[in-house]
Amino acid sequence: MINTNYQKLPGSYLFSTIAKKVKEYQEKHPEKEIVRLGIGDVTQPIAPTILTAMHHAVDEMGKAETFRGYAPDLGYDFLRETIAKQDYKARGCEIEADEIFISDGAKSDSGNIQEIFAETIRIAVCDPVYPVYVDSNVMAGRCGTYDEKRGMWSDVIYMPCTRENSFIPAFPQETPDVIYLCLPNNPTGTTVPKTVLQDWVDYANKQGAVIIYDAAYEAYITESGVAHSIYECEGARECAIEIRSFSKNAGFTGVRLGFTVIPKELKRDGVSLHGLWARRHGTKFNGAPYIIQRAGEAVYTVDGQREIKEQIAYYMRNAATIKEGLSDAGYEVFGGVNAPYIWLKTPDQMTSWEFFDRLLEKAAVVGTPGSGFGPSGEGYFRLTAFGSYENTLKALERIRTTNL
Ligand SMILES: Cc1ncc(COP(=O)(O)O)c(C=O)c1O
Repeated sequence: MINTNYQKLPGSYLFSTIAKKVKEYQEKHPEKEIVRLGIGDVTQPIAPTILTAMHHAVDEMGKAETFRGYAPDLGYDFLRETIAKQDYKARGCEIEADEIFISDGAKSDSGNIQEIFAETIRIAVCDPVYPVYVDSNVMAGRCGTYDEKRGMWSDVIYMPCTRENSFIPAFPQETPDVIYLCLPNNPTGTTVPKTVLQDWVDYANKQGAVIIYDAAYEAYITESGVAHSIYECEGARECAIEIRSFSKNAGFTGVRLGFTVIPKELKRDGVSLHGLWARRHGTKFNGAPYIIQRAGEAVYTVDGQREIKEQIAYYMRNAATIKEGLSDAGYEVFGGVNAPYIWLKTPDQMTSWEFFDRLLEKAAVVGTPGSGFGPSGEGYFRLTAFGSYENTLKALERIRTTNL
């Protein structure tokens, strides 16, 4: 009676295991102040301009003349048009407002998008990877069987991303139908030059594959020569779906807002994926709240942009501080330039969990074991830049001065 695919999912979710270990440690050492650089959750409050827009929208909901009920399934025009103009047209990407689907965030969209594909498709993922892509396909019965020892699914095509290939995946030997790319990347904190992304678009078009491009960390790109959207690449309208989030650029992790872009040209088996997603969204989603969509609109105002850029700069100062500090202390560190994550190689051949345990036990600092993101993450460790500056400095000092 039940969907037995759910039972195939291994163990508990990475972050619940971490939470359990941290709780046990704190109970054993109540006097210790733990610094958490584990979960990728923001800590800065919602910026004033965005908050004012939310307050205004709340007031509108309290008056009969301005009250709003169900939002349009696909999003309010005021937000879709603003996104089309500022995120896309301003960067030379021909994306129309009606190709943008507003949602409650990138987790839902990246987990749900697989529904519009056949049960028989092969997916390709980077390894390590944001776990939602694989788990949502497992739930749909697509990934075959799980090999506990190797930490791999029999029917998933893995594209290892390690320091040996500068965390840039090679084209897989087997041909995928759907390729998940997350750039800038969670967890490795790295990204690829636009030329490399163009190669992926060309590859997908040649193979008839669809790229699901998760650009949740787009706002953290600091280097030129890195694409902010996959639609900056030629031919992407024929092969790519882009997913974005307001969580990390504007601190909406608790507010909830995101969107997915599907160009009208994107067809497979002669069918428009735009049409399928519109149908899926219309049937299973009843619209992101008006108040939140007004908040999202305020993100794009001049003041909103200035304020969120200050927040991003604050996090990126943390990233630079961690990166430089650990590097000076002899660690091999990656990321942290175009993303709020630092990806480090564990010293002395330690496994990711060994490093986690030692860091917690000896320095009371929490990070995320790389192996939790896939087998090629073994021997790596993720620290986030989303803490406060003070806590970042504290964590760094402890890591540098503790003999792990
Ligand atoms: C790669 C990636 N995609 C999506 C999300 C989820 O974003 P949202 O908060 O919009 O659901 C995250 C959150 O950590 C992420 O790292």
